[in-house]
Amino acid sequence: MTSLFDPVKLGDLELSNRIVMAPMTRSRAGDGDVPTDLNVEYYRQRATAGLIVSEGTQPSANGKGYCRTPGIHTPAQIAGWRKVTDAVHAGGGKIVLQIMHCGRIGVNHNKDADAETVAPSAVRAAGQMFTDTAGMQDFDVPRALETAEIPALIAEFGQATGNAMEAGFDGVELHAASGYLPMQFLSTGTNKRTDAYGGSAKNRVRAVVEMLDAMAKAAGAGRVGIRICPGVSFNDIQDDDPAETYATLLKAIGPMGLAYVHLILLKTPQVDGLAVVKANYSGNLILNDSVTLERGNAMVDTGEAAAVSFARHFLANPDLVRRFREGAELARFDRKTLYTPGAAGYTDYPFINE
Ligand SMILES: Cc1cc2nc3c(=O)[nH]c(=O)nc-3n(C[C@H](O)[C@H](O)[C@H](O)COP(=O)(O)O)c2cc1C
Repeated sequence: MTSLFDPVKLGDLELSNRIVMAPMTRSRAGDGDVPTDLNVEYYRQRATAGLIVSEGTQPSANGKGYCRTPGIHTPAQIAGWRKVTDAVHAGGGKIVLQIMHCGRIGVNHNKDADAETVAPSAVRAAGQMFTDTAGMQDFDVPRALETAEIPALIAEFGQATGNAMEAGFDGVELHAASGYLPMQFLSTGTNKRTDAYGGSAKNRVRAVVEMLDAMAKAAGAGRVGIRICPGVSFNDIQDDDPAETYATLLKAIGPMGLAYVHLILLKTPQVDGLAVVKANYSGNLILNDSVTLERGNAMVDTGEAAAVSFARHFLANPDLVRRFREGAELARFDRKTLYTPGAAGYTDYPFINE
């Protein structure tokens, strides 16, 4: 019988257990979007995870959406992350960087003065975002990228991956879920392009495949993963036929030999994400969303998943692996401090026997 406590190899990533810390934006980066000693401590505390997927991290100034999110595009950011990866490795853990380009999900108040909000098409997302300087603000109307600009956009993902490897990460994960830039290319509601990057499903998956290619060239395919959630409507994203879109994407990336696909489980009347993945992808799967210890063990025992990721439990329980192992009670997370600066609700969740 295989359990979450057994080791597993995902591509070139060797995990000591199958309990993955899911990516979580915590909005606590320092000036210049540089990871700080507080961030080092947060990840150090959670190093017993088989794998940590970092918070979403912008590959470029344009890719920043939310306030106080870290980047991986300046020397200071790379140096800041190096302290994080050293701490996780010293604790026996592994960590990959989640590359998150927010695309149209952004407002200029949160960005550097010379950065802009860009997307596949000039379609504004309904809704608002919090800013430190001006409170809640409507999302920007994004500028549609010219065809001639796409190679530079793709190159951002390769460069960010190279920077992540320089910072000591074990690999990288492309955030292609939750309505951010890669998903904006995939989805018909946000991709109105008439060039080779829009229209048919084959064209809409092209940018994401090229991003993964650029990332694989920089890190090796066995150190690259992708996160998806077919059919999700978060951030006002909409696709006419997610089953077709993701079947096309998964068939295209199958031969690349990526480390894993990280699937946020969602079943809607429109699409059953797990069914689409199973039918079109035979590589390693990390499954996520509200999974219990019992369900997670069953998922790896049946081979449905290679590993399972936990977000909110890891947020509130830095020693989640030990608590699972000992059947200990789990602490609950505090919603009020999810995105607030400082140590409160970040590095002060206790370990058991503390
Ligand atoms: C505070 C918070 C921040 C999150 N930020 C990210 C993120 O940066 N990237 C991402 O892919 N998912 C993000 N998520 C989603 C989680 O990774 C996960 O999919 C979700 O919480 C469901 O898993 P859970 O039931 O184990 O919490 C975030 C979730 C939370 C609670």
